[in-house]
Parts: sequence; structure tokens; C-alpha cells
Amino acid sequence: MTSIVVVGAGQAGATLVAKLRALGHSGPITLIGDEPVPPYQRPPLSKAYLVGEMPAERLYLRPATFYADNDIRLVTGAQVRAIDPEARRVVLDGEAIPYDRLALTTGARARALPAAIGGDLEDVYLMRSLADADALMPEIRPGRRVVIVGGGYIGLEAASVAATRGLAVTIVEAADRILQRVACSETADWFRALHRENGVDIREGVEVTRLTGGRRVDGVELGDGSRIDADFVIVGIGVAPQTRLAQEAGLDIADGVTVDARARSSVPGIWAAGDCASFPYRGGRLRLESVQNAIDQAECAAADMVGSGYDYAPVPWFWSDQFATKLQIAGIGTGFDRIVSRRDGDGAASHWYFAGDELLAVDAMNAPRAYMVGKRLLEAGRSPDEAALRDPATKLKTLLG
Ligand code: APR
Repeated sequence: MTSIVVVGAGQAGATLVAKLRALGHSGPITLIGDEPVPPYQRPPLSKAYLVGEMPAERLYLRPATFYADNDIRLVTGAQVRAIDPEARRVVLDGEAIPYDRLALTTGARARALPAAIGGDLEDVYLMRSLADADALMPEIRPGRRVVIVGGGYIGLEAASVAATRGLAVTIVEAADRILQRVACSETADWFRALHRENGVDIREGVEVTRLTGGRRVDGVELGDGSRIDADFVIVGIGVAPQTRLAQEAGLDIADGVTVDARARSSVPGIWAAGDCASFPYRGGRLRLESVQNAIDQAECAAADMVGSGYDYAPVPWFWSDQFATKLQIAGIGTGFDRIVSRRDGDGAASHWYFAGDELLAVDAMNAPRAYMVGKRLLEAGRSPDEAALRDPATKLKTLLG
């Protein structure tokens, strides 16, 4: 019987093992994770969970009994130290687990500020894991002052939660504008305005030079010579794929673990999926950090591992909630040369990314119809007529033809 081991018990790992059973794999399955808890959803950690509006039980992806019921060995709180692709086994402290097929779903790690500039002071928080959110939660109290380093979705979501709870919030973004990595300037403008309306102080194009304090942080010094007092600091400056194990085992790495369209790595018998994997996309390579990708690529890997593989051809989607804005994104805007913007009613807008005549992505703010139409067009590999899209009189649905 083919024995399958999955390293990394996040969204991708949990999806992968469940899919293996759903596809009829009857051999042994082991899922290994270094966090002390069963697999859970991360998106609510910077949203509902952080403000106590979602109990921990609802974070878990599967009921506690699921793994035993499905004869899946779930090993939590365990670090895999090495992979031995020759002997086909993974090495943990005090145990080596043999495999016939291995999947790496090791995800990504939140980047920290260097200790040399005070990144290791107390009351400086990352926001990636359940433990991070649990540590941060008691700090979210009215009247306190927080500096958030990084104006990506993590930083902006944290700012929204904190400002809504009555904290004084400052965001410091090193790039010239927020959301530089992931969105066009029109979308950044929307969120900058939204945050400012809600009292968030956004400083862009300025670096954090030092976090100050004794043991605990008490402020942040910026490259323009200014200083902001803080009771605590949240750091949301991006993530790095966890590829160390794969690299040491000799797998090809390019940003993430290099995989083909079926999620196979460069080493026979080893697959990779989710935040840690870099896959072929539109003639190049792409590594995505999203729930959609974790699920869909993990299912693709599972299918290939049991001999019914197919190519992974995603239309990526993402979402973010900030104040009263629901942002939905379909596609990847990278490489766009123009944006077509629509007002989609009161307090709603959408920005459509094009390269030449080709639609690449849409950002929809409180505009579910724009999102739905954009996603359907992208799935069909079609691009809307630009003049029609620009025309406010055009009903979006007619673009689907
Ligand atoms: N000081 C200030 N800003 C910085 C610094 C720094 N030293 N270093 C990086 N930044 C900024 C970047 O310019 C960027 O705008 O931090 C922002 C980080 O944004 P992302 O890279 O998008 O990462 P983050 O928001 O942390 O999200 C991490 O979580 O929710 C998911 O989809 C999200 O996968 C992403 C992950």
C-alpha cells in the first residue's frame, strides 16, 4: 500500500489529505505540522477572530474527530528536521517516517523586523498564526496607540480592526504607496481614503529606522526624523515561502519550491502546493499566497499523487474586509499597462487591469457584480470591450455576451 506523508498542516495540507481519502486512497496518510493545533483558517485571524467575533472552534478546518475517523495520522507540534529523498523518509526529533509519496505544504513565514532595529522588543507582534493572534488580542483596547509597519492587506486589515475598536492607529509604509505589491494605485487610493476617513494616519514612502524602548516597545523612529509613540507595534511586511527543507533535500527552488502544472517538484516522489510552491503560469512562474490557491493546488497535487492528475490552471481570487468595504479580486494584475475604472453605484467601484486588449484582473470594492462578471470573463479567457466597460451606461452583465 502506498504510504503518503504531507509536511505542513495548514490550509493546503489539510485539503490535500482530505482529498486523498475522497479520491479513494486507502494507504497510510500522515499529516505533520509544527503548530500545536489542528489545521485552521488564517484569514479570520486579522479580521473577526482578532476582535472576538469568531470563536476558536470555528477556525478549525475540520472537526477534531475528522482525522481519526478518516484514518489520517495527524502529528501536531512536531518539526520535520530533514527529508531524505533517497531513503524516502522524513526525519523528526526521535522518529523517522517512511513515505512512498511526499507532499510539502509548508506555507510561508511572516517576515519580522530585524532585532538590530528593535524588532525583538516585547509588544511587537506578527500576524500570521493563531498564536500570533492570541498574543495580540489583549492589546486591542480602546485608547491605545498602535503603529502598524507595512501597508499590505495584513497591515490594512489590522488597522481597520484597531481603528474600529477605538485605538489610535498609524500605518508606516516604506514604499511610495500602500498595496504596491498587489494592487494598482487606483485601488490604493480607495483604501487610503477609506482609512483616513476612519481616522487612521497613513505615512507612505518612509522607513522605520528603529523601534525604541527598554524591554517593551514605546515608539517608532522614522527615516524622515519623526517619531511616533506607541503602546504596541504590529509588523505586516510580507511573507517568505518556507523552502529550507526542500532546498536541503535538493529540490529546485525559485522563490518557492519549483513545481510543474501537476504540482510535482523536481525530485521524483515529492509534490508541493500552496504558499510554498511556485508553479507555471502564463509562460512564467507564479507563487500565490491565498486560500484559493492552497485549496485548488492541493487538490491538484492529491489527484496526481493517486494517479489521476490534471493541470492546475487557476483563475486566482482573493478578498479583504476593511471597515465597510468588501474587496474582491479576481485574476492577477501583474504586468498591466492600463486600468479601466467604473463607479458601480454609491460607495462601490471596480478597477479592471488590462495588458493590451487582454483583461488580467479586476479589483471590486463593494461591487460583487463587477467581481462576478470579471471572474467569469477571466475563466472563459475573454476580455470585455474596453469602450463598453468604460461606459457607465453599460450593464455589467451584458459584457458576458
Ligand atoms: N517598513 C515598512 N513597510 C515595509 C517594510 C518596512 N521595513 N518592508 C516591507 N514593507 C511593506 C511593503 O512595501 C508592502 O507594502 O509592507 C507591505 C507588505 O505587504 P505584503 O507583501 O502584501 O504582505 P502582508 O500584507 O504582510 O501580507 C502577507 O498575508 O493576507 C496574506 O495575502 C496576504 O499573503 C499575504 C500575507
